[in-house]
Amino acid sequence: MDTIDQQLLKIRACFDLDTLLSTEIDGAYTMSYYSKLSKWYRLLHSKEGAMHFPLYLDEASDHHAALHVPANRIASVIRSKVTQSQRSIKVLELGCGHAYNSLYLSQAFSKQPVEFTAVDFTPNNVKWANAKVKELGIDNLRVVQADFEALTKDFGQFDVVFATESLCHARNVERLFRSIQEVLQQEGQLVVFDGYCTKSAAEQSDKEALASRLLAMGFAVETFAAIEDWIQLGKEQGLSLMQKDDISAAMLPNLQRFQSGSDRLLSYPRSMRFLRSLRLLPELTARHLIAGALAAPLLEAGVIAYYQLVFEKL
Ligand SMILES: C[S@@+](CC[C@H](N)C(=O)[O-])C[C@H]1O[C@@H](n2cnc3c(N)ncnc32)[C@H](O)[C@@H]1O
Repeated sequence: MDTIDQQLLKIRACFDLDTLLSTEIDGAYTMSYYSKLSKWYRLLHSKEGAMHFPLYLDEASDHHAALHVPANRIASVIRSKVTQSQRSIKVLELGCGHAYNSLYLSQAFSKQPVEFTAVDFTPNNVKWANAKVKELGIDNLRVVQADFEALTKDFGQFDVVFATESLCHARNVERLFRSIQEVLQQEGQLVVFDGYCTKSAAEQSDKEALASRLLAMGFAVETFAAIEDWIQLGKEQGLSLMQKDDISAAMLPNLQRFQSGSDRLLSYPRSMRFLRSLRLLPELTARHLIAGALAAPLLEAGVIAYYQLVFEKL
């Protein structure tokens, strides 16, 4: 029995999987998840508002530095656009959450001709981010409530579009890429940090499919897209892949901590079922525990992988 089997056994002892898996994870579910949990992310994960995983890469030695890794990598893409261009550069963040990345980048580029826009569809995230923009006196960032699957040319034309751990929530990937292609300038770049299945649905074993679906559910994601299918859909919308880095190993230190916390609670199945029967364990917390139990084993087994992707609109 491998680690994924062992984790599934623990989960089955605590939860009724059929009931769990019957939930429809659509846009309304995702928005309600973030409406309820964003404040907990600020309390337990990052008081500055990051909602993505820390990446232990590029000599990042602590949680704070590791949370800045995606933004620092995006900054290099922006810097090269600034160097190549005679005009002001426009940058758009998709699914910005509290705009942690855009707040950081807009301050880093405050003395250069770069204008930032960030969108998110969860109203309280946008409200929190706008309060921060005001508090910090930032004048080169606007945060707007919008669905990143429904942007049109009128929204603006951007030289760099980026997203950290938000595009996995897209309900329709073709629609998402059409939306991005509407707002990305010719030769503009799309930079993505996110998790994907390494195999298509047809190639996964039943166990892999079940475990990755439970993992996705814990993060309010319908299903993690298969990486090659996702890249192909981008290509069909005129976005050519320039860079694909598997940086899964950089996630593991944090995911292993997440797993040991979840495992501790899941080792008391009777208490878990009792607490749930009395509704003392909130549903979203229960689902998060399941994600915690499965994320590291699925990454270690290579079923799920985390990538930095860079596309260019040709
Ligand atoms: C895991 S959080 C990541 C937030 C931010 N990128 C970060 O790294 O801190 C995902 C965010 O995507 C947003 N989101 C999900 N689907 C969206 C959509 N269709 N349009 C806009 N925002 C969306 C959620 O509201 C949430 O704030």
